[in-house]
Amino acid sequence: MDTDLPSDLPSDLRAGLDRAAQGISRHALGRRSAAISQAYRSGQGSAQAIQSADDALAYALARLPATFAAASSVLAALKEAAPDFAPRTFLDVGAGPGTACWAAVGCFPGLTALHLVDDNVHLRLLALRLLSGGAVGTLRDATYRQGDVGQLIDALAAADLTIASYVVGELPAARLLDYADALWSKTAGILVVIEPGTPAGFARVRSLRSHLVGRHAHVVAPCPHDHECPLAGGDWCHFSQRLNRSRDHGRVKGAALSFEDEKFSYVALSRVALGVPRRDRVLASPRVTKALVTTKLCTPDGVAMDVASRRDADTYRERKRWRWGDAVSREADGRANP
Ligand SMILES: C[S@@+](CC[C@H](N)C(=O)[O-])C[C@H]1O[C@@H](n2cnc3c(N)ncnc32)[C@H](O)[C@@H]1O
Repeated sequence: MDTDLPSDLPSDLRAGLDRAAQGISRHALGRRSAAISQAYRSGQGSAQAIQSADDALAYALARLPATFAAASSVLAALKEAAPDFAPRTFLDVGAGPGTACWAAVGCFPGLTALHLVDDNVHLRLLALRLLSGGAVGTLRDATYRQGDVGQLIDALAAADLTIASYVVGELPAARLLDYADALWSKTAGILVVIEPGTPAGFARVRSLRSHLVGRHAHVVAPCPHDHECPLAGGDWCHFSQRLNRSRDHGRVKGAALSFEDEKFSYVALSRVALGVPRRDRVLASPRVTKALVTTKLCTPDGVAMDVASRRDADTYRERKRWRWGDAVSREADGRANP
């Protein structure tokens, strides 16, 4: 039976998941997926939540489409902010089912080497099975080391693009900054860290960002500056990516809606300052009324509310096109230029 996975996934990845799920009851996968979500919600990590091949598959069917959507969205924002960045090597730390590799290859087709690390044997085996069905040789040739990142990281080679996607929250909180240093030491070009778009996920991203800026990292995205994050009063920087939910994806998740919105926080940090202008970041969906468009922006001077009046028809129309997460420019004459 076809798993009918979301069309947003690359077809070779979808086909691999289909093959892996053949002959396995959706009902059983749904039960496992619910138990895994419950384990994560109660604060357990992947080591406790995913203890068998079927657990790994249930996790991938339920969560991979959303983390893939988040990683793709972040890498697209990175590419937009750093148009000349052309990584050849990629390191995926806490790679799980290999999600970020697929997103990276989709975004940066010039990648020639993918290296993954994770300590979960079941997720690693599933990832290798999926990667072996990749349409491009770079996916099929990926290497995947199994082990604890704290122990393995010294032995790894630095990559042009290093990513830790939905991983940092599973590492010991008291050692967050040690892990930040370790990830940074394995980054020859740009480091991307993605966390769930919750206050706690954002707090981790913010600490890591601040620590590594202190080690001379430059922020590529989402912030248009390297200053301390200006958000205050319990506010948190996060973004949202909508993805289609297929019938089976919904069934494994026990969900009725035909879509879901994945919320995530992230930062992309570069070893070198990019010689391109940095653009303001839209921090929430603009509020549109008949008279005004009001947009919350992160700017080099802090958080700003941009207000466009309908009386300035061109600006009003432009601002209406802005979307949460966009990088935008406000020209000196007040005209918008997303
Ligand atoms: C929530 S999953 C995210 C997987 C994948 N990066 C994604 O975006 O879909 C977290 C992953 O981090 C891995 N992980 C957690 N702590 C780890 C550690 N100390 N060393 C290696 N991997 C770890 C888990 O095994 C799991 O695969």
